[in-house]
Amino acid sequence: MKSLKSLATKLKVNLVFPITRSFISFSTVLILDRSSKVSLGKGSRIRGFCEIYMEKNSELFFGNSAVLMRLGEIVVTEGASLVVGENCYIGSNANIRCHKEITIGKGTKIAQFVSIIGGQYEHSDAEKVIEYKRFQSKSVSIGENVWIGVGVVILPGVKIGNGAVIGAGSIVTKDVESNSVVAGNPAKQIGLRR
Ligand SMILES: CC(C)(COP(=O)(O)OP(=O)(O)OC[C@H]1O[C@@H](n2cnc3c(N)ncnc32)[C@H](O)[C@@H]1OP(=O)(O)O)[C@@H](O)C(=O)NCCC(=O)NCCS
Repeated sequence: MKSLKSLATKLKVNLVFPITRSFISFSTVLILDRSSKVSLGKGSRIRGFCEIYMEKNSELFFGNSAVLMRLGEIVVTEGASLVVGENCYIGSNANIRCHKEITIGKGTKIAQFVSIIGGQYEHSDAEKVIEYKRFQSKSVSIGENVWIGVGVVILPGVKIGNGAVIGAGSIVTKDVESNSVVAGNPAKQIGLRR
């Protein structure tokens, strides 16, 4: 892992990491601050044309056999951490913005074009400009064995319980109970898994 980091720091782009333990595709771009930590579990894979940006003291953990499919973009800002549990699958064109802590429990399956958003601009005062100085970082927690449909957006601060199902195209604005099926904008419960 140490050599991966120093190589990535030197190259800044197009890191190749074709070893048996884990795999990062040729065409993936990793931009890592020297103080960031990246840990890839056995059999984990990061497919082509992904872009991963890691700021100061940020952490990224991919559990064993976790997969990030092509064209995913991951940003982990200063001091933040993203944990992807073992056997998670993240479909192509994922957009993950981690500003505090994002955890994805083991076995969770995420379809294509899903956004997981860990922050937003403070916007209540119309007199003040919208700027990064007043950015609010919030954690997002996604449980184990969750299924997230295509095109879902998960907003800052949301907690999704184990075994939940999120219907395609949903905007998740509030916490989701374990084993519930939610859908729509804003996402509402449409069923319960037995
Ligand atoms: C959420 C989902 C699993 C629900 O399937 P289901 O349990 O069979 O539910 P139903 O199709 O019977 O729908 C129940 C109700 O919810 C509504 N509904 C279902 N999915 C919805 C969605 N994504 N957005 C809004 N409403 C939805 C249905 O219109 C129906 O409403 P009605 O009772 O007023 O007629 C499914 O609709 C879905 O979105 N699957 C995701 C598929 C996907 O993204 N695959 C990617 C590859 S893994």
